[in-house]
Amino acid sequence: MSRLVVVSNRIAAMEGKKESAGGLAVGIMDSLKDAGGLWFGWNGKISEEQQPLEINQQDNITFAAFSLKQSEYDQYYLNFSNTVIWPAFHYRLDLVNYQQEDYDGYCRVNETLAERLKPLVADDDIVWIHDYHLLPLASACRRMGMKNRIGFFLHIPFPTSEIFNALPPRKEILEKLCEYDLVGFQAESDRQAFLENLALVTDVREVGDDRIEAYGKTLTVRVYPIGVEPDSIRELAEGRLPPKLAHLRDKMNGQLIISVDRLDYSKGLPERFQAYENLLENYPQHRGHIRYFQIAPTSRGDVQAYQDIRHELETHAGRINGHYSTLEWTPLFYLNQHYERSLLMKIFRHCEVGLVTPLRDGMNLVAKEYVASQDPQNPGVLILSRFAGAANELTSALLVNPYDRDGVAAAMDKALRMPLDERKARYNEMMDSITKNDIAHWRQSFLSDLNQVSVAARD
Ligand code: G6P
Repeated sequence: MSRLVVVSNRIAAMEGKKESAGGLAVGIMDSLKDAGGLWFGWNGKISEEQQPLEINQQDNITFAAFSLKQSEYDQYYLNFSNTVIWPAFHYRLDLVNYQQEDYDGYCRVNETLAERLKPLVADDDIVWIHDYHLLPLASACRRMGMKNRIGFFLHIPFPTSEIFNALPPRKEILEKLCEYDLVGFQAESDRQAFLENLALVTDVREVGDDRIEAYGKTLTVRVYPIGVEPDSIRELAEGRLPPKLAHLRDKMNGQLIISVDRLDYSKGLPERFQAYENLLENYPQHRGHIRYFQIAPTSRGDVQAYQDIRHELETHAGRINGHYSTLEWTPLFYLNQHYERSLLMKIFRHCEVGLVTPLRDGMNLVAKEYVASQDPQNPGVLILSRFAGAANELTSALLVNPYDRDGVAAAMDKALRMPLDERKARYNEMMDSITKNDIAHWRQSFLSDLNQVSVAARD
């Protein structure tokens, strides 16, 4: 059996800590354990000179981690990945700051990664590359002579041509993406957008079974909605709350609303705070009885737009609590901190409403985790943005438009009043799809398709 090589910008710091690793990291680890293999990625460090790869072996898996030089971190990670692709692919052209030198730096890092990866890869290994930092990596690998099956999965949305056309290197990016054998997206809309963009810049021939020919290459383009591990989430959620939190929960008679997001402008946090303010204003019967917990750890704090969103959120939180708090009651708890995943799943189970309202999101695994954490006999209600990939599957959530503050406030009121029968029915429908399309299903479908790709044309 061929080995699996996984490449992602972030490499999971596993060291046996399955509890604290994200669901995606665990899912990828499981595929590496099955086939044996290599995980290649950034260790999160910045070094003055290029450092040797940090190699760690854990059973049949090798971790090979690189550090980045300051200029590489700036151009590849901060600027092109996170100040061009991330905002553009989340429909925020106003936040894009494109500089040719950053794009060049991004491509250079991808070339360097291909050079460093090549000696670690055997001819029959299959290579699975993840996310927007590495769009051109297959093309760099091909230039180095690698003929392996190489697949790519994009975890974030792919924008339609009105947005994508604004990116100066758009043709080059599309051409480089065609060097993959398999390109996977979260949702059909992303797949359609990619094909539409491609057809605008080159001749595309559909050759059946989701395969296309473009730029003289044949590739499969398919949708693989990412999932979670419902059984392990349930186990974590059923565990005991730490005593301090349990005590707090007992003292708080009333309903709790929970949101957990990286502090990112794509997550719709200011809009959500204002929707909550609207709920307190227009549905005064809830005052004194509900609390909203927003957990939002800082993310990409070196990027200006992330500093701005943090300040904006602090202003909203201060205003809401200043206006509505009483001596006995605080309506909003905004926690700009990271919490262990195992604790979050327990917290989810104790909260009556899960509020997940991104303005755009590739999938949003928090939505699935909230549902999978619930007590089947007394489940909470998920409020979910229509603009998250998860909304394609979790159609029994209360689906909302995150820009519509009145609509989100009305959904919160409805969730807080929802009778048990309806909560159970919605929960069961959502769990059916979460169980069927779990993380194992996601990775097995992707890898089985990648294994079947014919590489005869390259020999
Ligand atoms: C999103 C992206 C991932 C990324 C993560 C954290 O989920 O799709 O590729 O790793 O955010 O962002 P960071 O910039 O800290 O790696």
